[in-house]
Amino acid sequence: MAERILSAKGPATESAGWIRPTGRQLLGEGEVHVWRVSLDQAAPTIRQLYGLLSEDERARAGEYAFARDRERFTVLRSALRMILGEYTGIKSRDIPLRYGQKGKPFIWRRKGLAPMHFNASHSAGLGLVAVARGHRVGVDLEAVRASFEWMTIAGRFFSARECECISSLPASDQADVFSALWTRKEACLKAAGLGLAGGLEQVEVATDPQESPKLLRAPIEMLPLSRWELIDLEPGEGFRGCLVVEGPCLERKQWIWSYPPSLAG
Ligand SMILES: CC(C)(COP(=O)(O)OP(=O)(O)OC[C@H]1O[C@@H](n2cnc3c(N)ncnc32)[C@H](O)[C@@H]1OP(=O)(O)O)[C@@H](O)C(=O)NCCC(=O)NCCS
Repeated sequence: MAERILSAKGPATESAGWIRPTGRQLLGEGEVHVWRVSLDQAAPTIRQLYGLLSEDERARAGEYAFARDRERFTVLRSALRMILGEYTGIKSRDIPLRYGQKGKPFIWRRKGLAPMHFNASHSAGLGLVAVARGHRVGVDLEAVRASFEWMTIAGRFFSARECECISSLPASDQADVFSALWTRKEACLKAAGLGLAGGLEQVEVATDPQESPKLLRAPIEMLPLSRWELIDLEPGEGFRGCLVVEGPCLERKQWIWSYPPSLAG
């Protein structure tokens, strides 16, 4: 039943559509770029990356109880700053990040700076950053946890149809498809800036393997539903991901983020 959802397995190699870019990337209208970021970096690199964070980001990093979480936050946030810096021409540490009512970060628009939208997600040692010009985007990434009691969570946040899609599968595939559906739902809420406060249970996505992923039900702020395009990503073996774009995504490029040689540890 869920062949299409299952078929998104596989390693995020260059052959799976993730490419190491050469030179600076240009982002056209209607285009979306997704960057894949490895979050586990060497200590000297992390120390340098920490220098790119703003005061409030450093304070936030300091709130993490575990060093690994603090380091991964530092790596993803600094990569986000560098990626945005590449497109805007603004120095990474000067990117004017602000936050929406529900916490979605955005670039404070300066005169002469074309509107740019972005969103980020992380899970285990991997991060994704989606960037678009003129269209809101949401991205979500989840590491699939094999021995995971998905039923309890799905019962609370998934529709009857979504639960049925998972439970009709062999037990060995259920956690994987749960994660695929979860990322679709969460990426929708993130695209609209609602975050989880928007209510995962208010979002329903298509589960038919013959259909492209699409939104069937969403909070009122997201209507009309037809304006959101859902794209399943293949972030890497053991991960599920989804990108949601407001308006048609005319072209998608998937890049592997590498640190400038001066930072690579
Ligand atoms: C942000 C949120 C969606 C996190 O989901 P998650 O699966 O734990 O984490 P992800 O890695 O997928 O996404 C986190 C990133 O999403 C972005 N983000 C934060 N709030 C967001 C929002 N409302 N909408 C879209 N993106 C958001 C940030 O870049 C964040 O990265 P950071 O944690 O490094 O700052 C969820 O925790 C949330 O909705 N938080 C908002 C706070 C909240 O619910 N408050 C309740 C009262 S309003």
